[in-house]
Amino acid sequence: MTRPADIDVRPVTEADFPDWNRALNTGFLMPPAVARAQLDARREQFVPGRTLGAFDGKRCVATFRSFDQEITAVGGALVPADAVSNVTVTPTHRRRGLLTRMMAQDLAAAKERGDVVSTLIAAEYPIYGRYGYGPATTMTEWTVDVPRAGLDPRARIPADGGRIDLVDGADVRDLGPGLHERVRRSQPGAVSRPELWWRARTGVVSTNGTPWTEPFYAVYRSADGEVEGMVSYRADDHWGDAKQPLETATVEWLLAATPAAERALWHFLCSIDWITTVKSGWRSPDDLLPHLLPDPRAARVVTQADWLWVRILDVVRALEARTYEGRGSVVLEVGDRAGLTGGRWRLEAGPDGASCTATTGSADLALDVGELGTLWLGDESAVRLAALGRVREERAGAARVVDALLRTSRRPWCPDMF
Ligand SMILES: CC(C)(COP(=O)(O)OP(=O)(O)OC[C@H]1O[C@@H](n2cnc3c(N)ncnc32)[C@H](O)[C@@H]1OP(=O)(O)O)[C@@H](O)C(=O)NCCC(=O)NCCS
Repeated sequence: MTRPADIDVRPVTEADFPDWNRALNTGFLMPPAVARAQLDARREQFVPGRTLGAFDGKRCVATFRSFDQEITAVGGALVPADAVSNVTVTPTHRRRGLLTRMMAQDLAAAKERGDVVSTLIAAEYPIYGRYGYGPATTMTEWTVDVPRAGLDPRARIPADGGRIDLVDGADVRDLGPGLHERVRRSQPGAVSRPELWWRARTGVVSTNGTPWTEPFYAVYRSADGEVEGMVSYRADDHWGDAKQPLETATVEWLLAATPAAERALWHFLCSIDWITTVKSGWRSPDDLLPHLLPDPRAARVVTQADWLWVRILDVVRALEARTYEGRGSVVLEVGDRAGLTGGRWRLEAGPDGASCTATTGSADLALDVGELGTLWLGDESAVRLAALGRVREERAGAARVVDALLRTSRRPWCPDMF
């Protein structure tokens, strides 16, 4: 076995790229022979210096990629983020510290560039806490039992003077990015979406190598003609005995810039003849969906899990980038084993913004940088983390003060998987 020190961790070159892709497929348990189309699509994501590999001799045995992203902070500021993706270590080389080495290189470079946070979607919960990431948003998936939902099958949809049109992939590429910009700027936890995303979701390119079949796309326009919502869904062609259509519509993605668009699109999906089940896809935990149905219990939660993880790289800029619903002041003692942004910080915060400065004053709450990542977008409660022993009150009642400042009335959400 090669000693870990003899395995080279370094940025991937153009020449390494096919082998790096074979290693990526292997790590994700996809067929290791990379299709030409898949390689071409992934080449578009190749950023020299940001695509890392570990090499045992000539063979690539670990992959890691990061790219520039913006994440929407509470209040709407767009914060520069180091998005991490394509993390794999080949099964023959796991648990020898290769991920740790790639992560350390990437986070140091992100800090150097001035990124405020690093983001990722974790395949497994136990992987990333050790690097200072904390789960910061939640994903919920519902299954709607349509006949039980209580919607009037004769109702006109939408009922608000707007309209729904079925469109094709070219329309989605044309109208989708503008709608997404609008949605993500008002949704804390949402991230910028590369243009490639739209081509991959409309079959123009294939990053995963699977054969393409066209889904259905529907667009919602408000009464004044504004594009406010869009959905992509597939049906499964399932019929029961006695000649009953029992089809499931599975939502691939749904974007809604307004509550009216959200209402219209879910009602539309639940009104399609033959569809008796609607699977919501990955949604925000406080989506309006269940309560858009006369009987909300028709929408059963089938998945609830951590989604976007945040690693704060700069406590001052992260806390100053967001707004706060209440007004107050608190001193946080932030631990960071990697030495990137630890220290004692006084946060003075209010609805119009905040200042965060280094202080020698006594701390109110002590927490690891991962817990601060978990609290940053307002989804988690410091009181709850204190009960779990994951943050420590240095002053009685400090967790409650932190919650009054950091928590938000609507929950953060990240619509993207990357
Ligand atoms: C996750 C993965 C990249 C980890 O790679 P690795 O090289 O084994 O990681 P390291 O050796 O650097 O591990 C560092 C530490 O994390 C722990 N760890 C790594 N992966 C873990 C996992 N899946 N579950 C629990 N602990 C894990 C290791 O035990 C080690 O702990 P230690 O420091 O206490 O000894 C690798 O297991 C893999 O490719 N898994 C399949 C693909 C995947 O899930 N990728 C992540 C996509 S988001």
